[in-house]
Amino acid sequence: MNRRYLTTPIYYATGDPHLGHAYTTVLTDTLARYYRQTGAEVRFLTGTDEHGQKMQETAAKKGLAPIELADQMAKSFEAAWKDLNISFDRFIRTTEPEHIGVVRAFLERLWSKGQIYDDVYSGWYCVQEERYWTEREVGADRICPDCKRPVEFVEEKNYFFRMSDYQERLIQHIEDHPDWIVPVTRRNEILGFLKKPLQDLSISRPKSRLSWGVTLPFDPDHVCYVWVDALINYVTASGLLDPDGGPDQPGFTDPGNSWWPASLHVMGKDILTTHAVYWPTLLMAAGLPLPKQILAHGWWVMGDQKMAKSVGNVVDPLALREDYGTDGVRWYLLRDMPTGSDASYTPQRFQARYDELANVLGNLASRAISMIVKYRDGIIPEAAGAGLDVEIESTLSAVTEHMDALRVHDAMAAAMDLARTANGYVDRREPWAQAKDPSRAEDLDETLASLARVLTVLTALFLPATPEKMTALASQLGLKSVPTFEEARSISLGGLRVEKGTPLFPRPDQ
Ligand code: MSP
Repeated sequence: MNRRYLTTPIYYATGDPHLGHAYTTVLTDTLARYYRQTGAEVRFLTGTDEHGQKMQETAAKKGLAPIELADQMAKSFEAAWKDLNISFDRFIRTTEPEHIGVVRAFLERLWSKGQIYDDVYSGWYCVQEERYWTEREVGADRICPDCKRPVEFVEEKNYFFRMSDYQERLIQHIEDHPDWIVPVTRRNEILGFLKKPLQDLSISRPKSRLSWGVTLPFDPDHVCYVWVDALINYVTASGLLDPDGGPDQPGFTDPGNSWWPASLHVMGKDILTTHAVYWPTLLMAAGLPLPKQILAHGWWVMGDQKMAKSVGNVVDPLALREDYGTDGVRWYLLRDMPTGSDASYTPQRFQARYDELANVLGNLASRAISMIVKYRDGIIPEAAGAGLDVEIESTLSAVTEHMDALRVHDAMAAAMDLARTANGYVDRREPWAQAKDPSRAEDLDETLASLARVLTVLTALFLPATPEKMTALASQLGLKSVPTFEEARSISLGGLRVEKGTPLFPRPDQ
């Protein structure tokens, strides 16, 4: 059985979801839906990242206990993903007892293999990014190179993971698997990063400074570094490790039955290093297999700044959804950002993408269905319907190829092109003229059957991106459900009764 385990990052539970978070999640959902379309058994994981100093401080500012803030935000993310029709199978929270157990079992494995040692760290620390920086990196101004906030000087005992021991093995892995990090520009960045010697990784924080975290199994005065805790979520949700596994059984539950290794981790480029360097080396040290692939997408920017809560320029996907519907938001995100590059959000571009949905796909559906109703009493004619066969075949292949290569925006463009071609076919065939001439009844049957066929194929092609509307369209076509790509090629439509529904993509003011 073809199995796919897909993950989004787990989102910081410090603020509400914005369009940037929605992008990562919609992108992963579209891939998950595509794999299901092709017959794979899919496990799709998302969730919230709830430990760490930033959580502790944000909660304190709001007068809440960290767990109260985490509860609120986990609800907010889960509700947003439901509203955006995200088909996740598991929503993980890092404060769950199961996850805490697995983090401890994972660390215990590293500890018992001699992969962790303690030492004193003295240097600069950024609370916002939850990471240490060197003297050179913070410069004379003592500013975090990432978030530009002032850093703090700290001197404390820390536990370190022997990450530097894995540098060569990691480089070898990346070189042996050219598609392991997609797109290639990001892969090259990581290879560039690995040209410098890799440091060991601090994996703990003293409880005297930070108590909101997973207590280390080998030192009750320290908690696990939030990034290590967070990355392990992917293993927790796979069911690979036993959450009750203490020193006696830091082992597998049932490896054959678990979802590990993940097929694909999806994330933004800002957190690629943690996923492509920290995570695989931790897994190597624990003796566990590596994820099969990593996709790092670009950023949604406003002007020339990353959209971020801390910058105060975020767009709320749920507000857009009020006007344009769930599928309008999903389509914009998928179609407007070339997977891997940055894209700039503007209301004008959003509108233009929505217009494309309405004027090309929506218009085709409404014309074709109206004509079947008008000229054939709503019954799809029993004709070959082969008028667009060549275009259908080439589009199915193109979309498959793009999706398999994780070029989702190209897949969407190819699907939309088929709808555009089908509108051209209507204009060329002029079914309204065929309908006026009784001697052309067979031609009209062929035109209408071809349109029904192409719409059926389009429901399959667009389902991963716009599932709600494609389900509605399939039902307008008289189909019980949206077919798979394979079924769409050969499904017999003659005799089905179509039904005019409400417009698929109404104008926002309607
Ligand atoms: N908690 C960590 C991830 C831990 S995963 C083991 C984290 N969370 S986050 O909430 O800050 O970001 C989660 C995802 O949202 C990342 O993939 C990030 O790139 C994405 N985005 C946040 N802002 C974004 C944009 N403006 N544009 C595109 N994606 C953005 O990092």
